[in-house]
Amino acid sequence: MNNRLKGKSLLTLLDYTKEEIMDLLNLSIKLKNDKKAGLETKPLLGRNVVLLFEKDSTRTRCAFEVGAYDLGMNVTYLGPTGSQMGKKESIKDTARVLGRMYDGIEYRGFKQETVEILAQYSKVPVWNGLTDMYHPTQILADFMTILEKFGKLEGIKLAYFGDARNNMGNSLMIGSALMGMDFRAVAPKAYWPNKDLVAKCEELAEKSGAKITLTEDVKSGGKNVDVIYTDVWVSMGESETAWAERIHQMEKYQVNEKVLKNAGKKAIFMHCLPAFHNLDTVIGMDIYKKFGNECLEVTEGVFESNQSVVFDEAENRLHTIKAVMYASLADQI
Ligand code: CP
Ligand code: NVA
Repeated sequence: MNNRLKGKSLLTLLDYTKEEIMDLLNLSIKLKNDKKAGLETKPLLGRNVVLLFEKDSTRTRCAFEVGAYDLGMNVTYLGPTGSQMGKKESIKDTARVLGRMYDGIEYRGFKQETVEILAQYSKVPVWNGLTDMYHPTQILADFMTILEKFGKLEGIKLAYFGDARNNMGNSLMIGSALMGMDFRAVAPKAYWPNKDLVAKCEELAEKSGAKITLTEDVKSGGKNVDVIYTDVWVSMGESETAWAERIHQMEKYQVNEKVLKNAGKKAIFMHCLPAFHNLDTVIGMDIYKKFGNECLEVTEGVFESNQSVVFDEAENRLHTIKAVMYASLADQI
């Protein structure tokens, strides 16, 4: 297929059309099938990509590394320390250096502006592996998973519970608006996505037939939906002191057995992960000691239920991220 995505960066889904997203999802499905059938060919043999991580990661880093290896590429990982970036050397200068050496750049960090500067000055495709504002590669994996479970995106009712103005809330709303879905942010008003972004998404929704609802009402927001989605209540980069207030504000929006029952038996539970669903983590235990909560945004029962598809989503990070790199760098897809 002729590749209309060659040379394109993925900074936010706002830069993509519905058709372009479908190209990426179809390519992801093909790559997944090829991998399972042992039919991979290393089409980008000898190319080089660099992964810049200012924040921690398991899925995103591993998906970029394994995806790159599967395509035949070489990878350099630069973590929060160990390079000159941002300390002795500006992002603009770093971009111009990396652009001379690499075919593509992944960035995970704080400011959306950083990933934009990298794209502007490196002159190679740049992929956003999460900023405070957006997490576009996660949404591709989520939508691939929804396609696998329901066979369509159009008309799918997705209720996002919790911090709806974080990178996940913003990006799910944009993706839903583009793909003609029925998106509900079920959150305290102070945690609804910002008005300008909602207005942009409403414009997209007019074209795609999507619906955008912002509500504080847990029952009506999550009634008979196809997907219940949640994310952590305090994101990377936020102060630890935010927990006390956040727990108080978000407790009502926890995804528990009652929420899943209200959604219905056919609903699936999704979470980008990592999730606080028991006490098996250092931070989870610390919060339990301070506040007494055994689980936070999702209960253990929902997380481990047969309606939970969180590990399918996690696997699909690999196939979708591989598709993003492939589409940015290959002549044909
Ligand atoms: N969902 C996600 O981005 O996970 P990591 O933080 O492990 O990359
Ligand atoms: N909102 C979360 C997403 C993690 C994948 C964070 O930014 O920490």
